Amino acid sequence: MRPRTTLFQVALALTAFTFLVAYGWSPKSRIVLPQDKGPEKVDVADYPQELQDAYKTFRRVCSRCHTLARPINTTMRPDYWARYVGIMVDKSPEPISAQDALQITQFLIYDQQIRKDKDPAALFPPLTEEDLQKLRDQAQGSAPKS
Ligand code: HEC
Repeated sequence: MRPRTTLFQVALALTAFTFLVAYGWSPKSRIVLPQDKGPEKVDVADYPQELQDAYKTFRRVCSRCHTLARPINTTMRPDYWARYVGIMVDKSPEPISAQDALQITQFLIYDQQIRKDKDPAALFPPLTEEDLQKLRDQAQGSAPKS
């Protein structure tokens, strides 16, 4: 006999969910990084058609949890981009298809080489996990700086 979902179980699940939301559990970003304040668009008019399509996928998928300015103004080595997209795929509760991930990686690597590498000083290196944790602690409102 299969166990039936009781009203009690439903109520329990709802309560747990409410608590998770109330305590700020979310895969979304709740902090502002320096690179979030830069431009949110790339002029891709001169990019090959394939990469213009990839740019659309990037805009659709990578804007779910934070501003697009974040990846657009971060510089990384190409192999790091490939790894980083993997990390974002893992973080996402909404599945990101392998095909989308591949397109996005191709876009980020091309854009890195054609645009970002020309003027890296205008952009931002990725923050370390330690830096990110500091920003998260500040966002929690612990010990305001005087
Ligand atoms: C499920 C939510 C989610 C999605 C989808 C997502 N991100 Fe993120 N991203 C985060 C979180 C969370 C952080 C970590 C910092 C923070 O807590 O805000 C982050 C950080 C970053 C950073 C900053 C890294 C650093 O250390 O400075 C970059 C760049 C980035 N994401 C790029 C992307 C790209 C490219 C995509 C699309 C493939 C993407 N993100 C999709 C949640 C997401």
